[in-house]
Amino acid sequence: MAKSLAFTCTECGAAHRKWAGKCDACGAWNSIVEEAPLSSGPKTLGAARGKGIELTDLATEEAPPPRAASGMDELDRVLGGGLVPASAVLVGGDPGIGKSTLLLQAAASFAQAGLKCLYISGEEASAQVRMRAQRLGLTKAPVMLGAETNLREILTTLDRERPQLAIIDSIQTMWMDTIESAPGSVSQVRAAAHELVTFAKTRGVAVIIVGHVTKEGTIAGPRVVEHMVDTVLYFEGERGHQFRILRAVKNRFGPADEIGVFEMTGDGLAQVMNPSALFLSERDKPAPGSAVFAGIEGTRPVLTEIQALVAPSPLGTPRRTVVGLDSGRLSTILAVLEARCAIPFAGLDVFLNVAGGMRVNEPAADLAVAAALLSAREDVAIPPDMVLFGEISLSGALRPVGQTENRLKEASKLGFTRAIAPSRSKLGSVEGMDVRQMADLTAFVGDVFGA
Ligand code: TYD
Ligand code: MG
Repeated sequence: MAKSLAFTCTECGAAHRKWAGKCDACGAWNSIVEEAPLSSGPKTLGAARGKGIELTDLATEEAPPPRAASGMDELDRVLGGGLVPASAVLVGGDPGIGKSTLLLQAAASFAQAGLKCLYISGEEASAQVRMRAQRLGLTKAPVMLGAETNLREILTTLDRERPQLAIIDSIQTMWMDTIESAPGSVSQVRAAAHELVTFAKTRGVAVIIVGHVTKEGTIAGPRVVEHMVDTVLYFEGERGHQFRILRAVKNRFGPADEIGVFEMTGDGLAQVMNPSALFLSERDKPAPGSAVFAGIEGTRPVLTEIQALVAPSPLGTPRRTVVGLDSGRLSTILAVLEARCAIPFAGLDVFLNVAGGMRVNEPAADLAVAAALLSAREDVAIPPDMVLFGEISLSGALRPVGQTENRLKEASKLGFTRAIAPSRSKLGSVEGMDVRQMADLTAFVGDVFGA
């Protein structure tokens, strides 16, 4: 009988019958590898009956889960107000971005807050972790360390120690002796994560799993386990910048899209309590191509500077380079400017960037992006005390966005005195803010650029 083989995408875990250069499911290139299927058991459950499960009424009162706060506010907020017992959390991020540093600091904080914490490293020896802790000044924290990659050993240890929090760094180094493929393969990563999540639920141990975002196709990425865990956090940042952002992309126990901001320093990660001030701190004198966006990240207002550069292109197809924003969004805004305001960008290279290594996903950033682009193109600086927000529709209209008052308050706190907002936004009252409301992009262009 021919050996049954399957092909799996290491990015998203989708199974394929044949090898292909591109995964149909997630669109990743070169991510499909040959791997033995997870199980080849009988197709149906058969006639055997189970014991049946216990059912409860939906109507019974359930107290909200008691959360454990670490005291690191930036982390607690992203978790939705602290760590929920028996929950499974995935922390993904590029190698070297600072996941181990963050989680060692988190372990120390949780331990100091009274939780029994275990930190299991599959990448470093305990002595190395201890050395790092020394550099971070955490040697006094009552965290227990282990260095192991065999999941059977780890689970036995967790069963014996019964900690309240176990940190597994990283899932790609873990392996189960019941599965033949190598550590880091889709089947190992998936099975190990499943085992850890089940353990968390049945034994009441909160588990934080670290997952590297991988560039090469042979190692499974954290997306493969996203659906199993309660909370998915990504640790992001540009390598050249010291800012790091912990972003909740899924949270069964709190708002998604919440962010925590950290700064990588010589002795570990420092919390950034006022990210707006930090993101705007690099702003120098008013220059064309710069616009300040009053945004909302999760529950918190964050101001960021959008920078644009527009220059004649020597190329047949001009460049469109975007950092920190969606490139599709840039194309849309350029098309709207051209079609609705008759401002063409053909023959011009466009570079767009969010200062400070921040990533902006909100559609409300559209107006600030358009403003930065126009300012760069016309070589006219936007007043330095002005913030902007508003979504641009394909018709060129400005759509109102949520939490206007919060945006304006944050801007006012940081010394801004003028704002441009879509008409029909509910403004609330913010002292010392001169807010101009506009219905569409044409009105905005006429008002700010006198065109
Ligand atoms: P690390 O936590 O090992 O990354 P990950 O676990 O995500 O792979 O972080 C490694 C980087 O962080 C490394 O490039 C050095 C830097 N770093 C500091 O700048 N300061 C510090 O105090 C520490 C511990 C690391
Ligand atoms: Mg690490």
